[in-house]
Amino acid sequence: MSAFPPLHHLLLRPRLPLSLRPSAAVPIRRLRLLPLSSSTATQDNADEVAEPPPPVTGTKMSVIDVNPPRGTRDFPPEDMRLRNWLFQNFREVSRLLSFEEVDFPVLESEALFIRKAGEEITQQLYNFEDKGGRRVVLRPEITPSLARLVIKQGKSVSFPLRWFAIGQCWRYERMTRGRRREHYQWNMDIIGVSKVRAEAELIHAIVLLFERLGVTSLDVGIRVSSRKVLQAVLQMYSIPEHLFMEVCVIVDKLGKITREEVEKELMIAGVSLEAVKGIVEVLSLKSLSKLEEVLGSDGEAVADLKRLFSLAEHYGYSKWINFDASVVRGLAYYTGIVFEAFDREGKLRAICGGGRYDRLLSTFGSDDIPACGFGFGDAVIMELLKEKGLVPDLARQVEDIVFPLDVELEGPASKVVSSLRRKGRSVDLIEDKRLKWVFKHAERINASRLVLVGNSEWQRGMVRVKNLSTREEYEIKIDELC
Ligand code: HAM
Repeated sequence: MSAFPPLHHLLLRPRLPLSLRPSAAVPIRRLRLLPLSSSTATQDNADEVAEPPPPVTGTKMSVIDVNPPRGTRDFPPEDMRLRNWLFQNFREVSRLLSFEEVDFPVLESEALFIRKAGEEITQQLYNFEDKGGRRVVLRPEITPSLARLVIKQGKSVSFPLRWFAIGQCWRYERMTRGRRREHYQWNMDIIGVSKVRAEAELIHAIVLLFERLGVTSLDVGIRVSSRKVLQAVLQMYSIPEHLFMEVCVIVDKLGKITREEVEKELMIAGVSLEAVKGIVEVLSLKSLSKLEEVLGSDGEAVADLKRLFSLAEHYGYSKWINFDASVVRGLAYYTGIVFEAFDREGKLRAICGGGRYDRLLSTFGSDDIPACGFGFGDAVIMELLKEKGLVPDLARQVEDIVFPLDVELEGPASKVVSSLRRKGRSVDLIEDKRLKWVFKHAERINASRLVLVGNSEWQRGMVRVKNLSTREEYEIKIDELC
């Protein structure tokens, strides 16, 4: 009997430490739950902390927890196929909109993410000091890195820039469905366009992506508003400009904490009770005409939104978007139109979100350049696709299997695989198996041909080919095989 536990045993006990026991004497490492210190901590975000492994002595092996750190993921081949499929769709839509791909380090300087508006994201940083004493973070989002690169490139680039990036982001977040401590984000940003055309293009990209994935406007909607709505209300009540970002961050909590709590936070920030009531009232508006009644038609908020809805009609995606003044978004740097996609059944958190951030660059000491963009995570959309039965069944795709029928034929088999791969075929070389196993394997990996290297054929300069879809079998000269 094997000394190792069977595979299903490992899979059925994912949260337990894996015990690979070469002998009964190997101690099992225990996990203990740390007591929760914060009042907001729940079982969901309680960290399991493993006791340090016993020192490795003599022939004894220490045993590790086979799970990745809480909130992070492994990507075994079947999950990696799905991730690649999703990313290919991100890339294809970006190509359709003529965006160029950029990339940044996952490790960034902490200073890039220090903002004072009290955003949740700045409290969720994976930040630490590196061995050189520098404060660094695993980036929680991509936008500040993008702004940094725009500043660094300076005058060497010509605007507008249409950039996209796909990268991993880290947030020490309370985990809910589709929300993790690491996720991949597809970002599309347009830098150097102040007109609403930029927002219209970005929303077009999001809609194109949904359509490619099979998601319809009955499944998903995109709520749109503008931070200028809130700005206009603050002006109406003569609230000082410097409170704007903080007010936005507080107001974004509506729906997450109670209305009374939001009102209390606003008043602590210095907003009068009268203004608080005004803000809450305006944010409940769901129609552009009502907003126009309240704010008048000559303000930027109404004009921008009207322009966007008019462009949406021309693009043909009106049915996907609706005005909703309660959309403010939780990041401090947005200045104009903001939007987020949501599932219409309301089961999931935002699928993607973005907006205009015309003043982010000046917070890094540069001149401002108008900019807007969005971030689209990989986790929430996959939950939605599962929910709607839209996750594709992606089998492994190998074109040929080459199988030497004899140990002596390993050399010739190498020649065959080498020739096929040079011709661009994807080839798996199988040895030391029975033919029955090879056929089953071919089926499993969706191979289209089986190339058998046999003694008598090889002596004649031939190989035997079995076409696995038509079942046709024939002999062919090695150099004619392609
Ligand atoms: P955000 O709304 O914080 O915006 O995140 C954008 C998207 O990233 C979310 O809608 C969601 O799909 C995904 N996401 C965020 N946090 C998590 C998480 N913990 N787990 C799984 N998915 C998550 C931004 O990050 C902005 N920088 C987007 C942007 C780009 N604005 C302008 N340009």
